[in-house]
Amino acid sequence: MNSDKTGMHGVWSNRWTFILAATGSAVGLGNIWKFPYITGENGGGAFVLVYLVCILAAGIPVMMAEVLLGRKGRMSPINTMRQMTDEQNAPRFFRSIGWMGAVSGFFILSFYSVIAGWTLAYVVKMASGIFDGADAELAGNEFGGMLGSPGLLLLLHTLFMILTGIVISRGVHKGLENGVRLMMPLLFMMLILLFGYALTTPGFGAAIAFLFTLDFSKLSTTSVVVALGHSFFTLSLGMGAIMAYGAYMPKQASLGRTVLAVGFLDTLVALVAGVVVFSVVFSNGLEPGAGPGLMFQTLPVAFAALPAGDLIGTVFFVLVAVAAWSSAISIAEPAVAWSVEKGISRFKGTLVVCGLSWLLGLGTVLSFNEWSEVTLFGKTFFGTLDFLTSNILLPLGGILIAVFVGWFMSREAIGTEARIQSPVLFGLWMFMLRYVSPVAVGLIFINGLLP
Ligand code: PFF
Ligand code: NA
Repeated sequence: MNSDKTGMHGVWSNRWTFILAATGSAVGLGNIWKFPYITGENGGGAFVLVYLVCILAAGIPVMMAEVLLGRKGRMSPINTMRQMTDEQNAPRFFRSIGWMGAVSGFFILSFYSVIAGWTLAYVVKMASGIFDGADAELAGNEFGGMLGSPGLLLLLHTLFMILTGIVISRGVHKGLENGVRLMMPLLFMMLILLFGYALTTPGFGAAIAFLFTLDFSKLSTTSVVVALGHSFFTLSLGMGAIMAYGAYMPKQASLGRTVLAVGFLDTLVALVAGVVVFSVVFSNGLEPGAGPGLMFQTLPVAFAALPAGDLIGTVFFVLVAVAAWSSAISIAEPAVAWSVEKGISRFKGTLVVCGLSWLLGLGTVLSFNEWSEVTLFGKTFFGTLDFLTSNILLPLGGILIAVFVGWFMSREAIGTEARIQSPVLFGLWMFMLRYVSPVAVGLIFINGLLP
């Protein structure tokens, strides 16, 4: 095992590259595709508030803990946790953080790739001009048509998995740094443009009201679990992705500020995407709770209304695909980094990780057509995997990380690694990790998951 200061996988060139890479991991389908549709399904404002509270009370503190562990261990999450439990004389039980994370990664990548495949299809659809002058009905039919074709979905899923595998097998830095540096800022610009369009639509006011008016009667206990789960999913927490990236973070970079920057950007993208999507929803009399197709049924209508909409739409879906791609890479990285430490070549490790996820993804492909009636506790194959990962595995991983750092690591070890200057902020962070995050997550679990 390798134990020099930077580890066997190398480090990012500077603090900004880490921010970019972590943002690349965080910002993805979770923000643009998932946040709007689950907000629609869970009634809007009150759900958004709970989600924001979860980001602050659990997401940010846990993210700092994950980056800290990664930077200290300098290895894949599995070996980092092995080393940390030894170093801190903590129960070996906490090693499950690494293993469980790798398993969650397989599950998440399997469906993430299927949905990301949809964005690839939409690049082609937008470019072909079929959405010229499209209304909500045409957009809905196009989406339905795509879902109805398992062969097409399989092809797209395969294509996306190959694209992801190519970068991972080359190593995260070379593959990722340049792509992210260019594409992330472009994606932000496109979102600002779309936001400008949303402002001009008649549904804008209703969208704002839907997203920010609190109506707690619409909030069920399951909604609270979903909001919590999504706060982990969207920040890439609880499965080691950010830990793996933390392993490549330069020692001098400030933990707190870096993490806050990533959390802020991720939240901003989600909220802007939400405003855009719901402006279209309310301008066209669409259903906010339409489900996973929401973004694909709304955005083409927005593009159709814009000058050069086909072009803008094409570029937009390219950027969403890139955002999904930079997230997918980080989902697979923990398992692949571990296989490299095991002495397996990066290429073979990638082949196994992506291959298995691809296979599992077939279930998600079929759950949108042939198997749409096959359900477990009322959920399709995709719904089950999504629920299991976002709402159970990631928060559970998050609790374990918070408890491990908060209760089982020495203050000294944390302090020298985190280098937070202000004792007040350090104390606040520890307080969140020791009490607030685990108790909040625990209570939400007990309330929402037990009958
Ligand atoms: N954070 C990503 C998104 O919002 O799309 C998804 C994700 C990436 C989840 C990495 C989990 C993960 F480890
Ligand atoms: Na996200």
